[in-house]
Amino acid sequence: MRFFPWGFWLLCVASAPARGDSGSKARSCAEVRQLYGAKGFSLSGVPQAEISGEHLQICPQGYTCSTSEMEENFANKSRSEFEAMMKEAGRSVRTTLTVQHKSFDSYFQDLLNKSEKALYDAFPSIYGELYTQNMKVLKDLYGELHCYYRGSNINLEEALDEFWTRLLERLFKLMNPQYHIIDEYLDCMVKHAEQHKPFREVPRDLKVKAT
Ligand SMILES: *[C@@H]1O[C@H](CO)[C@@H](O)[C@H](O)[C@H]1NC(C)=O
Ligand SMILES: *[C@@H]1O[C@H](CO)[C@@H](O)[C@H](O)[C@H]1NC(C)=O
Repeated sequence: MRFFPWGFWLLCVASAPARGDSGSKARSCAEVRQLYGAKGFSLSGVPQAEISGEHLQICPQGYTCSTSEMEENFANKSRSEFEAMMKEAGRSVRTTLTVQHKSFDSYFQDLLNKSEKALYDAFPSIYGELYTQNMKVLKDLYGELHCYYRGSNINLEEALDEFWTRLLERLFKLMNPQYHIIDEYLDCMVKHAEQHKPFREVPRDLKVKAT
């Protein structure tokens, strides 16, 4: 189905002026000729006075100032003007969205960066060496969070699980410095950690919040 915006109907109406009840004398097409010329079309072939409109395909049939060619020109003109308008409107919406996206994006990255920095700042005083030796675990997690936010194909739940696992391994080693802990032992410990919830509900809460 062809779609013509309402501007086209204005042209139709202009090209088919209402007839008085006498009806015998054909009305002048001066206004339509002027409008048609103003749209940049040649006036040759444009009626001086109304003609019968059976040939019209889009405008209402009846007495009219439009020929088939005029009707087609009006329709095309109307369509191209409408499309240009839509394009223009689309451009400003796109600009608005781009600006908002940019500001959200830098806000969010800023938050992520700030939380990372706050953590780095706070940990050394609380955990001292324990932290500095194991900073990589946190760095890795934030690296993953940044990638995830940028749309990399990262499974956030897995990244968080991985973080807690690495953290648990490190803490376990640190808390049992008198033992030499082999990897198989660590693996086994990690496997059974879930039921003991060494970090209580924190991993679950964090996962819910992050995702
Ligand atoms: C109006 O547009 C149609 C389709 O784009 C085209 O085929 C036709 O030639 C145009 N008519 C005029 C009179 O420019
Ligand atoms: C946040 O940190 C990342 C990586 O460290 C950096 O590329 C980005 O520019 C920072 N963004 C802001 C808003 O500080």
